[in-house]
Formats: sequence, structure tokens, C-alpha cells
Amino acid sequence: MCGIVGFVGREEAAPILLDGLERMEYRGYDSAGIAVRSEKEGLQVKKAKGRLRVLRELTRDGAELSGTLGIGHTRWATHGEPNDVNAHPHISENGRIALVHNGIIENYMEIKEHLIKQGVTFTSDTDSEVVAQLLEFHYHECGNMLEAVGRVLRRIEGSYAFGIICADYPNALIAARKDSPLILGYGENGNFLASDVTAVIKYTRDVVYMDDGEIAVLTEDSIDVFDDELIPVDKEHHTVDWDVSAAEKGGYPHFMLKEIMEQPEAVRKTVSPRIKDGRVVLDDVALTADYVKELSRIYIIACGSSYHVGMVSKYNWERLLRRPVEVCLASEFRYSAPLVDEHTLVVVISQSGETLDTMAAMREAKRLGGRTLAVVNVVGSSIARESDDVLYTWAGPEIAVATTKAYSTQLVLMDLVGLYLADVLGTVEPAEYSAIVDELAALPEKLENVLAHVEDIQYFASRYFNHDSIFFIGRNLDYAMGMEGSLKLKEISYIHSEAYASGELKHGTISLIEQGTLVVALGTYRALLDKSMSNVVEVKARGAEVLAVTTEEFREKMEKTADAVIAVPESHPVVQPSLGVVPLQLFAYYVALQRGCDIDKPRNLAKSVTVE
Ligand code: AGP
Repeated sequence: MCGIVGFVGREEAAPILLDGLERMEYRGYDSAGIAVRSEKEGLQVKKAKGRLRVLRELTRDGAELSGTLGIGHTRWATHGEPNDVNAHPHISENGRIALVHNGIIENYMEIKEHLIKQGVTFTSDTDSEVVAQLLEFHYHECGNMLEAVGRVLRRIEGSYAFGIICADYPNALIAARKDSPLILGYGENGNFLASDVTAVIKYTRDVVYMDDGEIAVLTEDSIDVFDDELIPVDKEHHTVDWDVSAAEKGGYPHFMLKEIMEQPEAVRKTVSPRIKDGRVVLDDVALTADYVKELSRIYIIACGSSYHVGMVSKYNWERLLRRPVEVCLASEFRYSAPLVDEHTLVVVISQSGETLDTMAAMREAKRLGGRTLAVVNVVGSSIARESDDVLYTWAGPEIAVATTKAYSTQLVLMDLVGLYLADVLGTVEPAEYSAIVDELAALPEKLENVLAHVEDIQYFASRYFNHDSIFFIGRNLDYAMGMEGSLKLKEISYIHSEAYASGELKHGTISLIEQGTLVVALGTYRALLDKSMSNVVEVKARGAEVLAVTTEEFREKMEKTADAVIAVPESHPVVQPSLGVVPLQLFAYYVALQRGCDIDKPRNLAKSVTVE
């Protein structure tokens, strides 16, 4: 996912652009560039493959480019390999227009062919450059940049967030968005546009979230927003309430470790406002008792780790609600003829609130008549604003690409929603209800307990970091939790890994177990512990090395079978995965650390995937 930043004001733009791009490095990228307009030089463009430090050296930290209007970009390549030419900003043929883009233009080839027939020459392989050239074509036709942008947006198909400057407009920065996020920031010495708040929070907390189809014109003293027919629209201002330090490492070596350690506080902030006098109270969610009692089916739709939260919730919700709960990968849902009607609740889970697969699936669910409830971490994000209801996880900004605290707060928020629905349906016993509420309230302290003993996990990581394939096996809730442990390991250490229902191993995959194969056996789900133990014996008999994760109650029992054991405090089965997952997060972190991986910015990955 690319990062976009723009500034127009009374200060030199280049240092502000570089600073903004640096604060978005966590999004993942392969090249970066900036363009600044100056009276003397017109548009000055500097861009390069590689990390931001290459661009800083190229521009002497921005000193090479003078001017108070500019745009910047970090690129996560979709069309055209990562190199200097394909980096953004892209310049129109006459050198008068510069553009940065996040998204995919699906009909770029036909437009490119049309423009080539008109004599336009291209320098890059990107879809984004086509938009810059098309913009020059329409600007030449109508002589007005805003009108030209409107014509371009009507011509292109796909997803976009654009930042645009033109040498003819010394005090105008233009923005447009569809499916890819863009925020507008009101500053003291000028105004900003950015892909996310992280880039501008140092300068302003007063922001506006652009909606699909909108165009904005920013000057040093004003911001005007228009709809797709160029009719002015009034936008609601939002005040960003988290502090700058939240988006900084705070003395930790990596954001990922900081965010793992922040989980007790993040869970506390997510749970405690929603438990009053032992009862679950959800925010202004309009799931009325009449609606809930008519529910015939629930879908949970998400990607990646958010999907793994759905897998845990499926087991919990079907037990609590006695209603069918389907968990779907967002990228599969919309192409699978889903059974959605007005009695279907569709829960979409997304940390970023910008994942395009999840957004598209939610739109399909709404089109089919389902009611959508979003569980999101980023306030004001696209999914949050488009769903019928939204519940926020209060994890604070999560910078590491590999999610941890957002995952954990999603887990507990889904537990709260499940309890709320079960209570309305009358399918949960009062004693069970109270026991789960109590365990959710006690969870932050138990998480602190787990995080106070990382040395065992560090030791196991130093023992096992050289394995080239690691299996995570478990049953039921342990299986769902193992999916997350496996993904964490893959994402940041690049070790191949699979999560497997341990009862399924004997149906094929056990053939892969040989002398020394590392198996992480999850045994925290008390009801199936004996079964899980027998699966440990199965793999041991074939030569596996077994690292077990269980609860303190069963540590001794597991130590009789496994080669190494990590134990976490007991909790209610519904809440237990929230504890068992933490050693898996730490194991992945320390293995990746041993392997010298780029933990916060793993190769090929982005913090939020805003392309299909
Ligand atoms: C998780 O560590 C990964 N970064 C990835 O799987 C992520 O969970 C997925 O892309 C979904 O992101 P979202 O929660 O922002 O929608």
C-alpha cells in the first residue's frame, strides 16, 4: 500500500514531505519521491528506488528543492517493477503536472494506447503515469485544472487516492479519492493531504476524511471539497486524539515488540468502557432485540489476522448464540454467491479499516440486503464510515506490519459482541455470562503475567530459529489460535509454517513429520486436552520436536510428553485464546530477531492492502 503526503503553505515543503513519508514507512514500500513547485524552477522532482534515506541523500534532506507547495509518495509496486523511473511522482509530458497515486487504475492500458495514438510518449510502466498524461490532455482541452480532474475521474476505472500539483497553480494542491484513503489536515502555516493521520499529526490534529468521488482543492489558507459533479460539499471535522509518541517506538527496538507489550492496556481500553455493573454495554450500535431475535445467519468476513479472529469467534459464537456462524475470507466471499438477506448479520473485521478485499465484500453484503457491523481500529476509516454500525477497538495506532495489539483487541471485542447477542437471544446462562465478563475484566492483568516471562520464549526461539518448516497443531479454539501463530511466524521470519487441526494430521500431512521437525502443539482448550496430548504423542513417535503451549494447570502433564512447554494462566474457554496467542506472537518476534529480519517492515508486505 503506497503512502501519499502533500503540503501547501508558508513553509518550505520538502522537509515536511520527507518527514511525512518517514512516518508512513511502516506501510511498506520499495521506492519514494517528492515534487516541489518553485517560482524559478517550476516543478522539481526527485525520486529513487530503495529506502527513504536514499531520497534524503539525493535531496540533501530536502534542501535541494525550494518551494512551499509539494507532494510526496512511498510506492508499493503494483504495475511496473520497483525502480527510479516507476517511482512517483509521475510528471506529464510537458513537465507542468506532477501526480502521486495510491490504488490501481484498471483501464489504464486502453487509455495509454489512446494517448499514444495522440502522440503522447510515456517513460514508465505504471498505471499512475497514464493518469498524469491524461490530466495534461484534458487540462490542455479545457484550460481549468479542477474541470480537467473531474473529466479524468469520469474516464478512469479502479481505485485511487491522488495528490496533484501543477506549475500553473502556485498555491493549489489537488486531491481526489475512490477506495484508497485520503485525509485533509488543517495546519497553522498551511494545509496537508495524506494517506493516513500518522503523516501529519505532528503538524495538526484537525482533519477531514475524504469520501469516494470527492475532489479537494487545498491552498495555504483554505480547503474546498467538491463532489464528483464539482458541487461544493461541507465536511465534518475530526480531532485526532492520540499523541505523537503513540506512533513512535518509545525505546523499544521494534514497533512490534512495543505493541505486544501494549496489549494489556489496549485490551483494558477496549473492554472496560463496555462493561458496566457486570453487563456488556455496546456503544451506539443499533442491533435491536427484535432484529437480533430474527437473525438466521451470521457471516464474519475479514483477511489475514482479522480472519483468524473470525475463526476464534466462530467457535465461541456458535456455542453462545446457537446460530450458524460462517467465517469467510473477504477475497472469497464476494465471488461465492453468499446466502445473505435481511436476517443476516455480516460482521467485517479490519484493523486498518481500508483493506479493499474486506471493503468490497462488505459492499456486496450490503447490496444483498445484509446488515453490516464493522470492528475497526482506525477511527474514521473507509470501512468504519460505510458500515451500518461500527465498534472501535481502542488499541491506538498500530505501526508494525504484523498485527498484535489490534488482533488482541479484536478478539475481546468479538467476545463482548458475542455475549451481548447471546444475552439478547437468551442462549447464555447467567452464570456463564458473568464468568466470561469477569474473565474479560481480569484479562489485562493475566496478560501482564504472560509478558513478564518472555525469557523462556526467547530461549526457545534461540533453539528453534534455524528450522525451515514449523507446524502449529491444535483442536477447536487452539486450532484457530494456531492459525495466527503460524501467520505471525511466516510474516516476519520468512520460515514456512502451517497451522493444522491436529485431528486432521493423520489424514495426510503427518507424512511430512520427520526426525527433528518442529511442531508447536497448542493445548490450552481444556475440553480437548487429552485428544491434543495424543496428537503430541503421534508426532513425537515420528521424530518431531514438540514445543507445547498449555495452561499452568496442565504444565506438568504436558512436560511428560512435549520437549518444551510454555504455560499461560487459565481463563474461561471463550477468553483463553487471548492468553495463548501471546507466546506465539513473542516466539515469532524472537525467531525473526535471531534471523536478522526487518521485523516492522517485512519484505513484500504492507500494513494495509488497499488493492485487490
Ligand atoms: C497481519 O499481521 C497481517 N498484517 C495481515 O494479515 C492483516 O491482518 C490483513 O492484511 C488484514 O488487515 P486489516 O485487519 O487491516 O483488514
